[in-house]
Amino acid sequence: MISQNTIQQIQSRIDIIDIVGTFVKLKKRGANYIGNCPFHNEKSPSFTVSPVKEIYKCFGCGRSGNSIGFLMEHEKYSYVEALRWLAQKYNVEIEETETTPEQKLHQQAADSLYIINNFAQQFFSDVLLNTEEGRDIGLSYLKERGFREDVIKKFQLGFNPEARDSFTKAALAAQYNLELLQKSGLVTVRDERPQDNYRGRIIFPIHNQSGKVLGFGARILKTNDKAPKYINTPENDIYVKSKVLYGSYFARQAIDKADECLLVEGYTDVVSLHQAGIENVVASGGTALTPDQLRLIKKYTNNLTIIYDGDGAGIKAALRGLDLALEESLNVRLVLIPDKEDPDSYVNKVGASAFVDFIAANKKDFILFQLENSLKDAGNDSTKKSAVVNQIAETISKINKTEDFTKQQDYIKQASQLLKIEEEGLHALVNKFLRDKITKEENRIGRENANDAFLKSEQPFEIEDDALFLLNKDEQYERAMVRSILEFGLNEWNEDQKVADHVFAEIDNNQLEELIDNKSLITILNTYKAWYNAGMEPTPKTFLYDENLEMAALVLSIMDFSVEISHNWARVYEGKIHTREELYKEEVFSTLNYLKLRKIKRLIDENQRDLEKAQTDEEQLVLLQTHQHLKQMEIELTKQVGMVIFR
Ligand code: CTP
Ligand code: MN
Repeated sequence: MISQNTIQQIQSRIDIIDIVGTFVKLKKRGANYIGNCPFHNEKSPSFTVSPVKEIYKCFGCGRSGNSIGFLMEHEKYSYVEALRWLAQKYNVEIEETETTPEQKLHQQAADSLYIINNFAQQFFSDVLLNTEEGRDIGLSYLKERGFREDVIKKFQLGFNPEARDSFTKAALAAQYNLELLQKSGLVTVRDERPQDNYRGRIIFPIHNQSGKVLGFGARILKTNDKAPKYINTPENDIYVKSKVLYGSYFARQAIDKADECLLVEGYTDVVSLHQAGIENVVASGGTALTPDQLRLIKKYTNNLTIIYDGDGAGIKAALRGLDLALEESLNVRLVLIPDKEDPDSYVNKVGASAFVDFIAANKKDFILFQLENSLKDAGNDSTKKSAVVNQIAETISKINKTEDFTKQQDYIKQASQLLKIEEEGLHALVNKFLRDKITKEENRIGRENANDAFLKSEQPFEIEDDALFLLNKDEQYERAMVRSILEFGLNEWNEDQKVADHVFAEIDNNQLEELIDNKSLITILNTYKAWYNAGMEPTPKTFLYDENLEMAALVLSIMDFSVEISHNWARVYEGKIHTREELYKEEVFSTLNYLKLRKIKRLIDENQRDLEKAQTDEEQLVLLQTHQHLKQMEIELTKQVGMVIFR
């Protein structure tokens, strides 16, 4: 431990301009210094350093902190590493403190627990492999489940006899301390008599990174409603569940080699996959991944693939806490095992190579998976939907490292497509979450400077409304278009045509489904068209009295929707205020154009995706030409849409 004295010496010499200036070119501007932010791409400098307040802040991406924070962020140092870097820079000699008596005690307990666990592991293995009871009950159970002896030995599986205190007796005879035996979870004292805790159970030793036994999971053999399926080691000086991943000792090399870590739920899943030759696998024990576990994975790879059974509660647990994985730049993918199987039973059923193929073919991006799922849950409920929009924006805002910029953009694009909302809108919402988070962080760090204007960012904002607006915006345009034809369809468009003639000709050129997403609105338009072509003169009233009550209700709500004349029109008509009735041609024109423009934008995106996948030069050329053509259309439409009618 670095002594408090050393830390103070370092702090007293810190010069933030000097430190940040080592990595960023800074220019003086008033009392502060500015430069191009090292944490995001920018052309004009919004990165500000205040020597007086000893903090930096970027007004572009919102990152801020002190000198040590800067080193931790920029150089990816830990706190202690940052201190050491500073100590060297300022020639401060590092003074390490002595270990406290408390630390010594903890160290001793840890050492003893390792020794006890080692003894216990050997005892249980010996029982399983070399005693009649172990072989008849434990080993035959494992063999029946298909576990081979070499794998059983590799994972050091064992068996604790049924008798009340076989292990306890052996441990006490070997002079192990009863108190520590209880701490290890192997022994409990009942009615003042010590006894085995894992009686009649299969034992799964849990190893640390260097192969030492931290604790055990003990599985019951028969199904029994009263007893728990597993008894696990209680938290003690060496077993801290949140820091352990079962199987990591056996998986580390394979994870490194495959550059991928598979995560499953249970002990048996890990052992079975190993047996099938799939060794880059660890288990979380069915709980949400913790920051420490994620860090453990990140040491070896950035690619985490979660393999869970499709309908289990486990998947929900696993997904919790994964936002953290995004902050840590992990690529998280998900595979669900079908038909109520788990990885253990599934690999036994289909065999190793089919299992590997299945995983490869069914990997889904975790973020998009989550989005699709919650969208399904939300159905047509707009409150739920806007919660989904907020949730995904928040999740995406967590992908925030400079090097992940493209990844974040990509998610915004794909998510906005799934949600059918504007990409720019989602982008803005993501940025709001980012700023919100930074503001909260600042409030936490800068409590003493709470009134400092330098630290204050944006006004508080209402995210909820933004999401709702975003979600409905496209649909509002669809409704507006339908409304304009319902209301003005019979008006004159030009000498030969009515509005309806014009609109339906346009729609025929564009395909209705490509202009309008909402199926009910499509029905209204088709109904209108059928009536109109049959010589009727449809008005909103015609719909209101129709037997299709759902359609009637929708028309009612469309007509009810209040339309405001945009201020733009006042400009176009030199200040004279017109009514909608006077401007109906413009309204028809711009609502239709908006939808046409949206269609072109979607086609451009689609073409772009094809372009990324193009195999041959010819293919690429054709797609590039299409791109140019679409872009030209977009430019022309944009010019015309310039005067949108709604606010
Ligand atoms: N678990 C636990 N305590 C329980 C049940 C489960 O700690 N009472 C943890 C264990 O780590 C277990 C994991 O959750 O490995 C997954 O549970 P489950 O799928 O029920 O167990 P498996 O290990 O898969 O056992 P089996 O294949 O024999 O059903
Ligand atoms: Mn299982």
